[in-house]
Amino acid sequence: MNRLRKPFIAGNWKMNKTVAEAVELVNDLKQQLGACKGVDVVVCPPFTALTAVSAAISGSVLGLGAQNMHWEKAGAFTGEISPQMLRELYCHHVIIGHSERRTLFGETDEIVNRKLRAALANHLRPIMCIGETLQERQENQTEQVLQRQLTEGLREMGAADLQQITVAYEPVWAIGTGLTATPDVAQAAHLFIRGVLKEIGDDKTAQTMRIQYGGSMKPENAAELLAQPDIDGGLIGGAALDADSFTAIIKAAMPREK
Ligand code: 13P
Repeated sequence: MNRLRKPFIAGNWKMNKTVAEAVELVNDLKQQLGACKGVDVVVCPPFTALTAVSAAISGSVLGLGAQNMHWEKAGAFTGEISPQMLRELYCHHVIIGHSERRTLFGETDEIVNRKLRAALANHLRPIMCIGETLQERQENQTEQVLQRQLTEGLREMGAADLQQITVAYEPVWAIGTGLTATPDVAQAAHLFIRGVLKEIGDDKTAQTMRIQYGGSMKPENAAELLAQPDIDGGLIGGAALDADSFTAIIKAAMPREK
């Protein structure tokens, strides 16, 4: 972490939690977190729980995000949700381009770019996910893959757009596997990503953008990862489904009193 950037912890609940379970989880989180200073915290429940969670977190430190959206305003897109529909529920963040969307639902860098631009046009703050597969890492393709995902995904965006975006580095081989990138491996990727953001935008923008780590982050490894200078927070999957473990990660991100 770096003093320039406020730590940002987001929970990606994926396809988990009924409405009742979702409300129970955020109520527990509110109780455990209290005022929680110095860290931005966002929960991203499934679409079905957004309305109830939005009401339950009103007035708390928790922010609301969605896990996906379509880029169009309205129309014949069966099963899809528009940016406007998310805004109506007081959703202020949206995850775009998660690796599960890329690999299981065919999202390309071009689709990611369209979604990012639609999110920004509707004042939603995107969390843009990028990351290499195990095979790409073993073939020494990591930097090339990250460079391509960033360059294509952020096409036609200026510094002002970039400032609204959080990048989440999620090595695919670390997601839900229990394998976490070591702090050194994660830091190296984050530093590389910041360098690419500098090329796309400018140095000041790259220095102010937050880059989260995601992939088996849990209370036991959060502090060590978050201590790295270019790791500004986390995008948490499994450990965000439990109030105790999510709170422990948030506490690990809180700036230490001097
Ligand atoms: P896990 O924390 O379960 O590995 O998931 C990470 C993730 O994909 C968050 O978006």
